[in-house]
Amino acid sequence: MKEIKRIAIFTSGGDAPGMNAAVSAVTRSALASDIEIFGIYHGYQGMIDNDFKKLSFDDVSDIIQDGGTILKTARCMDFMTSEGRLTAYKNLQKNKIDGVIVIGGDGSFKGATVFSQEFDIPFIGIPGTIDNDISGTDYTIGYDTALNTVVDAIDKIKDTANSHGRLFFIEAMGNEAGLLTLESGIASGAEVILIPEILNQEDELDNFIKKRIKNKDSSGIVVVAEGDEMGGAVKIANKVQKDYPHIEARVSILGYIQRGGNPSGKDRLEATRMGVAAFKCLLAGKRNIMIGLKKHDIVEVPFSNTAKAFRPINSELIEIQKILNSY
Ligand code: F6P
Repeated sequence: MKEIKRIAIFTSGGDAPGMNAAVSAVTRSALASDIEIFGIYHGYQGMIDNDFKKLSFDDVSDIIQDGGTILKTARCMDFMTSEGRLTAYKNLQKNKIDGVIVIGGDGSFKGATVFSQEFDIPFIGIPGTIDNDISGTDYTIGYDTALNTVVDAIDKIKDTANSHGRLFFIEAMGNEAGLLTLESGIASGAEVILIPEILNQEDELDNFIKKRIKNKDSSGIVVVAEGDEMGGAVKIANKVQKDYPHIEARVSILGYIQRGGNPSGKDRLEATRMGVAAFKCLLAGKRNIMIGLKKHDIVEVPFSNTAKAFRPINSELIEIQKILNSY
């Protein structure tokens, strides 16, 4: 095993609150062990463009509370080509990097897996995405903050829904996963929750409208996952408006506010735990694994087991939303 003297860290894919806390934890751990650490800016693209900068204690002090990522991020097409990866490898060599820590989603780990099959350099991953859709870990950095943002937004929209008697269709992010929608819907008392993991929910929506919206007051909240099979909130709201002209349907697409803002205490804490664990793994000679959380404990998961496998959604939560919305 090659001795680790100098490492690099980067963030990749969609930004998520708590990424800075992880960057800070890894950097401080490295400096505490007299290991040099470089930030690679703009994700894999920065690796290709040789956008490396040595990190100091000052670079990461007082960033734990900040959303976004000080290292910037990107979704990089060039890294999908073998030429791009070769250039990236040459830049890692040029900067004498002995090991790399990547913070991102399953796409970022897929990139790292291919890279590590082609070149001999250890990679350790830290899961960071508001979608919480990575296999092998119960938690991804950013999820808790996004959950609270969505719940807060729904609470506010409810004021208008109730005051005007309107039925709101609120679209939450999550890519192909419905966890953020399901948990925020339950936590905000939404009447209907539409997620990709549950098929054929048209009847559920229809039953709610027929049973509960009889008079002029059509107030209610339907939370829709962006990846839902019925289409997004706009499509569903248009259909409902057509089928039930007496209803005042409105749409609110929450969009990128879900990715921003100061990380919650949980996100800061878990990001810090994962950052320290990732650095320890690299130093111990481990490679091609993601740090994850299982039942609140840190676990090490081979990259090959992290693919977004449409992680099954907690059946208890599905039952809860059925019970609460069945009257
Ligand atoms: O993965 C995080 C996420 O915000 C998803 O929920 C969403 O589908 C996607 O990223 C949006 O990606 P982009 O930032 O490329 O628009």
